[in-house]
Amino acid sequence: MKQFPIVTFALAAIPFAAPSACRPPRWTVGQTVQTTSGPVEGHAASVAKGVSEYLGIPYAQPPVGSLRFQPPVRYNGTKKIDGKHFGAACIPSNVTAWDGNYEASGLAEKYGITDVGLAILKTIMNPEIPVSEDCLTLNVWTKPQTGDKRKAVMIFVHGGTFVGGSSAIPAYNGQFFADQEDVVMVTINYRVSIFGFPGNPHSPQNLGLLDQRLAVEWVRDNIASFGGDPQRITLFGESAGAASVDHYSFAWASDPIVAGLIAMSGTREGIAPRSAADAALLWYNTTRNVGCGDNASASASASTTPSPAQLQLAACMQSVPAAAIVSTLVNVVSSPIRMPYSPTIDNVLVFSSPATRPVAPVPMVIGSTDTEAALFRVFVPGPDSDSFWTNQTAQEFTCPAARRARRSAVDERQPTWRYRWFGVFPNTELGTRPGPTGAYHDSETALLFGNVDESLVRNTREEEEVGRWMRKAWAGFAKDPKRGLERMGWPRYEGQGGGGGGRGETLARIGWRNRTVSLARAEEYDVGC
Ligand SMILES: *[C@@H]1O[C@H](CO)[C@@H](O)[C@H](O)[C@H]1NC(C)=O
Ligand SMILES: *[C@@H]1O[C@H](CO)[C@@H](O)[C@H](O)[C@H]1NC(C)=O
Ligand SMILES: *[C@@H]1O[C@H](CO)[C@@H](O)[C@H](O)[C@H]1NC(C)=O
Ligand SMILES: *[C@@H]1O[C@H](CO)[C@@H](O)[C@H](O)[C@H]1NC(C)=O
Ligand SMILES: *[C@@H]1O[C@H](CO)[C@@H](O)[C@H](O)[C@H]1NC(C)=O
Ligand SMILES: *[C@@H]1O[C@H](CO)[C@@H](O)[C@H](O)[C@H]1NC(C)=O
Repeated sequence: MKQFPIVTFALAAIPFAAPSACRPPRWTVGQTVQTTSGPVEGHAASVAKGVSEYLGIPYAQPPVGSLRFQPPVRYNGTKKIDGKHFGAACIPSNVTAWDGNYEASGLAEKYGITDVGLAILKTIMNPEIPVSEDCLTLNVWTKPQTGDKRKAVMIFVHGGTFVGGSSAIPAYNGQFFADQEDVVMVTINYRVSIFGFPGNPHSPQNLGLLDQRLAVEWVRDNIASFGGDPQRITLFGESAGAASVDHYSFAWASDPIVAGLIAMSGTREGIAPRSAADAALLWYNTTRNVGCGDNASASASASTTPSPAQLQLAACMQSVPAAAIVSTLVNVVSSPIRMPYSPTIDNVLVFSSPATRPVAPVPMVIGSTDTEAALFRVFVPGPDSDSFWTNQTAQEFTCPAARRARRSAVDERQPTWRYRWFGVFPNTELGTRPGPTGAYHDSETALLFGNVDESLVRNTREEEEVGRWMRKAWAGFAKDPKRGLERMGWPRYEGQGGGGGGRGETLARIGWRNRTVSLARAEEYDVGC
């Protein structure tokens, strides 16, 4: 008799659960998960042993052969996937003239780069991760045995100037986020450089952005099996990844899939897209250099339908070895075009006048760092004046972020939050001359994920606290994009002068003077915008 109520309860509970919400009664760390790509074997994460880690899951068919320079094609599989290793990074092109020998350039001496700084620069510029054209994979960290039945999901888009980067960079390991914040963390690869942004005027542009979208669709279709909630996906990214998030908001405005966006140190405006003409110039430079012909031989037709000569050129470009193509690429620093391989205006995904385009109606967090350009100063030859680089920080990061935030908060009336990163710690500083490098571009990313390299200098107590707070805030936003951050005491940005209980103090200064977070008026930092 005693069992009666229990049975009744169990039966009554069934109709309330959608089939995909059914969680296996018990979750075994690393258990195999069925996905549209095939069954994925997992394992315990390296430190947070309760977290299940699934690495290198293909979400698109390898973009090689006849799929090179083409939009990604969904991967359907039934073969077992061994989730032990990250997938290869997509083939990068040269960002700097420095090819692993920064010391020899004299810049380390000039800027007083410390051992810590050198180690950081090496992982940023030369991350020693295997590369391949076959690179369209993603990674998942989850801990379904505890917490929410259906967890908020966070998808991270890495940076790298659209010519490099990888989800395998140690800074982006998602195990601590999943362990501490009860979210499912996903990190993705997408094509970069000429393979992601080829510039051929007669075939689709912006393949790297299409890769990102396909990865989001994969997450929508599969994440419930990892304990995730497909209704609560937040897309976040840093640098070129943040610009990608911004592009995403325009490209997929009417069907965003995701419920929230976080853009860290990057916007569509700040990392301005290439014109189609600039893109074609570099594309034909490569086609010529690898012996596939050029515009002159392929331009028999000016129409949008490719001529036979244009088709022949495209086929030739799919058959030459990737290495031959890579050897022709222009260096980011020496290029006549500021971002030689990057999103390109096609008015399909990337628009010439975003001001008149709709954006995805979802809440947004947007922010940047206090001295963004200090990173570029130490490895990009440029004018050596403080005011030049301060101006770069304002013009390429602070002001575009301010404008994008106003669009979101005022024009779109979406819940919007702004932050500015100030954290400076003994194991994040790059150099000492002419002064400390401060809170430079990308100096918050490893801290956010809980992955600061402590091999030379341990984290300080304040640093640990700041990292924990950021993870809580980012995850709080993902769990409830409309209200999560307000509940943490971070008021919405409402445009100039608004919000913050009338005083307009809505800008979260993170890591300012060793404090975890303090509020200020955004205008204080928007001077000159
Ligand atoms: C993969 O499966 C989906 C859904 O079943 C289908 O729409 C798509 O055409 C398939 N793609 C390929 C390349 O087989
Ligand atoms: C990168 O550029 C430098 C000089 O511009 C060159 O020496 C080096 O070989 C290039 N590396 C690659 C991988 O192309
Ligand atoms: C085109 O290629 C040539 C030869 O490699 C190179 O010297 C030139 O700078 C390139 N042009 C542009 C616009 O990058
Ligand atoms: C290709 O060449 C034609 C004719 O020389 C010119 O009108 C056109 O602008 C060129 N297109 C590109 C993309 O370079
Ligand atoms: C700041 O940078 C912008 C854009 O790069 C430039 O147009 C402007 O002249 C610069 N201002 C100063 C004072 O250097
Ligand atoms: C922050 O605290 C650390 C010690 O935990 C100290 O080394 C550092 O100088 C402090 N920074 C500031 C700006 O007060």
